[in-house]
Amino acid sequence: MAIYFNPETKFFYLEGKNISYVFGINRTGFPEHYYFGTRIGRDDLTYTYEANIGDSGEAAIPGKVHAGGLSYNVYRSEVSFYGNGEFRECSLQLLQKNGSRLNEFLYETHEILAEKPALAGMPSMRGGETLKLTLKDKFSEMRVHLFYTVYDDASVIARHMEIESCTDEDVKILRAYSFTLDVVGSDHDLLTIENAWAREGKPERTPLPHGIVCVDEKSASSTRRHSPAMALISKNTTEDFGPALGVNLIYSASYALKAEVGTKGYTRLTGGINDFDFTWELSAGETFATPEVVLAYSNEGIGGMSREYHDAYRKYLINERFANIPHPLVINSWEAVYFGCTPERLLPIIDAVRGTGIDTFVLDDGWFGARRNDKAGLGDWTVSPEVFPDGLTPVIDYVHDAGMKFGIWFEPEMVNPDSDLYRAHPDWAISVPGTEPCVSRRQLVLDITREDVRDYIVEAVSKILRENEIDYVKWDFNRAITENFSRALPAGKQQEFHHRYALGLYDLCERLVNGFPHIFFEGCAGGGGRFDPAILYYFPQIWASDDTDAYMRTQIQYGTSLFYPLSAISCHTSICPNHQTERTTPFSTRANIAHLGATGYELDTTKITPEELDEIKLQVAEYREMEDLVLHGDLYRMENTFDSNYFAVTVVSKDKAKAKVTAMRALCRPNDEHKRIFPRGLDVNAVYEVVNKEYELCLRLSGASIMNVGLVLPLKTAGGKMPGDFKTFVFDIKKVY
Ligand code: GLA
Repeated sequence: MAIYFNPETKFFYLEGKNISYVFGINRTGFPEHYYFGTRIGRDDLTYTYEANIGDSGEAAIPGKVHAGGLSYNVYRSEVSFYGNGEFRECSLQLLQKNGSRLNEFLYETHEILAEKPALAGMPSMRGGETLKLTLKDKFSEMRVHLFYTVYDDASVIARHMEIESCTDEDVKILRAYSFTLDVVGSDHDLLTIENAWAREGKPERTPLPHGIVCVDEKSASSTRRHSPAMALISKNTTEDFGPALGVNLIYSASYALKAEVGTKGYTRLTGGINDFDFTWELSAGETFATPEVVLAYSNEGIGGMSREYHDAYRKYLINERFANIPHPLVINSWEAVYFGCTPERLLPIIDAVRGTGIDTFVLDDGWFGARRNDKAGLGDWTVSPEVFPDGLTPVIDYVHDAGMKFGIWFEPEMVNPDSDLYRAHPDWAISVPGTEPCVSRRQLVLDITREDVRDYIVEAVSKILRENEIDYVKWDFNRAITENFSRALPAGKQQEFHHRYALGLYDLCERLVNGFPHIFFEGCAGGGGRFDPAILYYFPQIWASDDTDAYMRTQIQYGTSLFYPLSAISCHTSICPNHQTERTTPFSTRANIAHLGATGYELDTTKITPEELDEIKLQVAEYREMEDLVLHGDLYRMENTFDSNYFAVTVVSKDKAKAKVTAMRALCRPNDEHKRIFPRGLDVNAVYEVVNKEYELCLRLSGASIMNVGLVLPLKTAGGKMPGDFKTFVFDIKKVY
């Protein structure tokens, strides 16, 4: 049993694989947090608080025995509300009919649920055991339900909040965050992620000052600037050692995550739906659910936290149908031909990769309507007779004949003003009546808060999927949302737009992903502009960046792997000079870096040499050998090109019988240092064979030696020459006994 309640002390103990989460109902009747961290016993932890009761200067709770001492401002809270002595960031603020924003939610009852209730209209973690804690407002019939889900085999806890109006008066929600968590200590560092187009995934570590640090998105697009993710770490936490507490929101629209260092030695973490430009009208009898947040804890450093997320997401979040099977190994048409995807150009590209082991051809943008460039056609999901006079079938047959599956690109949420769809329904695009909408990448966003718009999208996309043998869909989303206005909503509900957009998106995903259960979906958003756990719930992999440059990818993939497993990170080998950076890197480097994820190719295979085509065959075979590591293995990050001239990771099988080490020296320097890298995660007592095929190196070493003595990166090529820049070194490690 993962959840235990002590009726005498009113303490709740939530226990995961290596974690405990403890809170108790205090004398005020308020759920007060005591502990989240490494697994502990079921002790009474009130001593940690009692010692400091009576401190001066705190607002009193009216009518409380401890008036003058106890107050919401010093409680370590499971939920925090404004108006009764709480001066820190609150997770809940309600505007009541008489204008009051005062609530005091106190324990009413709880239930322990063996089956996790689905989160209405939103993706969430599956499985586990769930505690539903119900709090009632002291001043009204409003209820708040706090949900906590824990897993025997994962060190994460999933939380969300529901607000139920049991009154007969409408209430306006001004803020409804998913969680509050007060962590001991006021001297933490905060790890967040900076994103920008073509350079997504940059980790940033900052010492937290007193006050509030917030990462947020206001564009209903989760990772255009930040990520809905942060980690609270100790000053001495490193990649391999020390505590790391992760926060990751299962949400794709505007959010805010905050860390507030208070004056009492605690750091408050809170966040959820961004309350900037948000209100929600809650009518009598209605319930509002917040998105779910996943909290992870590890005392094995940032790497340990990542592995907890990877395991939990593979088991309990990512679409079950695809989480554990090999992903399609694609050749994608985008960087090969961009909008010029005629059969004349595509068929030779397909021909060239026959027999290489690439198993899926993906027809990217440009196949539909008048979409010969980005100026027109978006939204018209009919095969262009100009480009494919006989429809898609001949190309699909050709692909099948080459032994491959067929994939296709959609951008379901968008429309070009120059399209039949826009001409027929200009009001379906998001805009404020009487104003010029903001056009970006020559496109507008469809108002998917509307059911009629969603019905059109589902039918238009489904028709193509029904009428053609399609195995794979790349779902793109290429611009941020502006105006944030729906013509279908009354004035008083316009600030519900962002969240309604998210709900509309999830409805579309439910209907299309479940309507075509055999189809593998890949998420994309102008690269990695919407890389979040909610998208992963539907789409087992997401295109991490439009930047396919191998050097940049060492950084982008490194940062993305902080929270997401390798199998979720879509990576392609492309042509050089690279289209985004003009940088040239060795072909083998591009493939070796792209192998650290759901791999594929994106280049004109008619323009590469026969030797490179042969190399693709070998690369695909090598990937097949390591695919189980990408799908199920443990990732250990050793070096990164943010901090050094090297990149290095180990991916190890769960049984520690097999591993792969991939390393790169970024810039080549003559007479360079004798660089060693130190693989991790192996069995110290086992004996392994370490093979580097390129250098015909085969060593027999104990796990302890490999990890402590390290592996040496050669200074020259196997032929004895200077290796040039961006040379990778790959070591295949297999347990002998
Ligand atoms: C986005 C995607 C690319 C490609 C183009 C097509 O930029 O990230 O991979 O699909 O759109 O327009």
